[in-house]
Amino acid sequence: MENLQNDLLLRMVNGESTERYPVWLMRQAGRILPEYRAVRSKLSGFIELVTTPELAAEVTIQPVDLLGVDAAIIFSDILVIPEALGLDYEMIEKKGPFFPKTISSMEELNALDKEIDIQERLWYVIEAIKITKRELNGRVPLIGFAGAPWTIFCYMTEGQGSKTFSKAKRLLYADPEFSHALLSKITDATITYLKAQIAAGANIVQLFDSWAGILSPSMYSEFGTKYVSKICDAINEAPVTVFAKGAYYARKELANLNCETIGIDWNMDVKESRELIGPNKTIQGNLDPCALYGSFQTIEEKTKNMLNSFANQRHIANLGHGVYPDINPEKVKCFIETVKGFEKN
Ligand code: CP3
Repeated sequence: MENLQNDLLLRMVNGESTERYPVWLMRQAGRILPEYRAVRSKLSGFIELVTTPELAAEVTIQPVDLLGVDAAIIFSDILVIPEALGLDYEMIEKKGPFFPKTISSMEELNALDKEIDIQERLWYVIEAIKITKRELNGRVPLIGFAGAPWTIFCYMTEGQGSKTFSKAKRLLYADPEFSHALLSKITDATITYLKAQIAAGANIVQLFDSWAGILSPSMYSEFGTKYVSKICDAINEAPVTVFAKGAYYARKELANLNCETIGIDWNMDVKESRELIGPNKTIQGNLDPCALYGSFQTIEEKTKNMLNSFANQRHIANLGHGVYPDINPEKVKCFIETVKGFEKN
């Protein structure tokens, strides 16, 4: 067994007792930190950073040193899975991801490479995890992650961000056979990928279902949770967190997943979420990321309100989504320090 100096997050995830709530932030490694931007500015772009393990490890550890969070999350992107499956992506400055080639039919799906070795294609993430573990040297746990199949499906079919993802949704209604085939392919690759991350040293893994909120409850059940559930059932080597953004309507269903932690966004009330999810899972979240635009006093107040709503149950303090890049790191620290100074009774 690995000897962790700070195992607060793992104890909380496993329902053990803790002195205080653990805290980390989605997107903590990234543009909020000048130290991140300095590393990034020497490179051709985001993708070079993601595919250079030494540098990915360096920016993964930055928030541990600079912000004092209770966990590191490996610096990568959910889009490495579509890339490994044969769809290259670009990251366009100030716009986001773009896939020159997308896929929307059984013929195109069948034309993708058949015998893909996920571990070989994503060697750089696995290597970054190994380096990060060595350099963290047991200070805090490391979180691995992947996109949930539905969210990856959105990018593979649409090719870029979208308000409605109506091209992706169209396929669910117009070609369910293809949709299930692509979701299955993504699911299998994701299982292999997460297992490889855990074998390399990830202590816990999180699934990001960023576009869960655009489906209806029955469609999310059929095309979303069905595949998230397969992944949860297949991953027995480490605890799993499922963050289905916007899926307030699915909280009861998510509570039945074979996972330890459910992430909630800021639209979801903490107490109501606890009632729907029950006492036997850890809940992660959910301060509005925009609260960090407030004054130090406001941040402290809003954070304490959130911590009080946790009512001494199984909770991990986090934001309800990724931290925005223009937030002052001192404000992020205020959030973290407020959590760390809050005594549970
Ligand atoms: O600190 C961490 O949370 C780890 C790193 C991480 C990144 N992306 C780095 C990143 C994680 C966990 C992700 C997940 C991710 N990527 C999601 C799911 C979470 C969510 O936000 O809903 C999604 C949908 C993506 C796809 C993606 N990657 C988009 C839409 C964008 C562009 C938007 C933006 O913020 O610029 C990215 C780029 C990206 N991924 C950046 C970072 C640090 C910014 C790129 C840069 O440095 O220029």
